[in-house]
Amino acid sequence: MEHIEELVRGRRSVRTYDEREIDPELLKKFTDFMGQIKNPYGVPVTFRLLDGRQQPLKCPVAVGTQLFVGAKAPRVPHMEEAVGFSMETLILYAQSLGLGSVWVGGTMDRPAFERTMELGPEERMPCMSPLGYPVGKMSVRESLMRKGIKADSREPFEALFFDGSFDTPLTAEKAGALAHPLEMVRWAPSAVNKQPWRMVLGDKAVHFYLKHSKGFVSEQVGDMQKIDLGIALCHFSLDAEERGLAVRFCLDDPGIPAGPDTEYIASYRLE
Ligand SMILES: Cc1cc2nc3c(=O)[nH]c(=O)nc-3n(C[C@H](O)[C@H](O)[C@H](O)COP(=O)(O)O)c2cc1C
Repeated sequence: MEHIEELVRGRRSVRTYDEREIDPELLKKFTDFMGQIKNPYGVPVTFRLLDGRQQPLKCPVAVGTQLFVGAKAPRVPHMEEAVGFSMETLILYAQSLGLGSVWVGGTMDRPAFERTMELGPEERMPCMSPLGYPVGKMSVRESLMRKGIKADSREPFEALFFDGSFDTPLTAEKAGALAHPLEMVRWAPSAVNKQPWRMVLGDKAVHFYLKHSKGFVSEQVGDMQKIDLGIALCHFSLDAEERGLAVRFCLDDPGIPAGPDTEYIASYRLE
């Protein structure tokens, strides 16, 4: 995958599709890619294409497509971050093919989707996405929904990223070569656009934290905001790699004091 910045900045949630069937060759590329995606946790994430013309699948926020891609994984530690990482890799690939998508963890007929995914008792399907060609002009309903959750804006850099400790905001100047991959995290999608990612620049490492909000944990999904963190890890590492920065994923809590609602998730070490 190339030009991560273009894909990250070009992506937005697409909820209005143009009814056209996806070109079979394009769909073949998508399904081939779908079978090869890896994540740094090594948790196996399985994707399936689901056809709403064959099964009664309802997703009230999306109109104009009957095609969906679901993600399932075993109920093991870090499954949410793994799903976030793998599915965002797939969503950026879809973007590179000119296909629209939207992360959906809530607004769907979940039992119908889980049945069609043939979910086992030890598995979860945290999210799925509709898939199709975006229409040029989104519906009034979609634009109102975007306004409601301020989907087009993000918190400033200094409010999300910190230098050494949570007491010192990080400036783009101080971040140097890391400013760009961090900026790619800032433009990531997150559930209800909460942007729960917080990152602390340490000694040759970037530490990722989750600032929890209430109401995102459920039996079917796990912790939805950990999916947001998996998405952040994906944007950061794809962009760092593309820019030739050698970064290595690790789970090694540096013990930096954080607020009671802020949890350490993972780090990338700079080699
Ligand atoms: C884990 C996750 C779950 C989401 N669930 C839903 C959902 O159930 N319904 C929906 O309409 N949008 C959902 N979204 C989309 C977000 O609202 C959207 O990404 C955010 O508002 C930012 O807008 P953008 O994606 O256009 O940049 C979800 C996003 C994420 C990352």
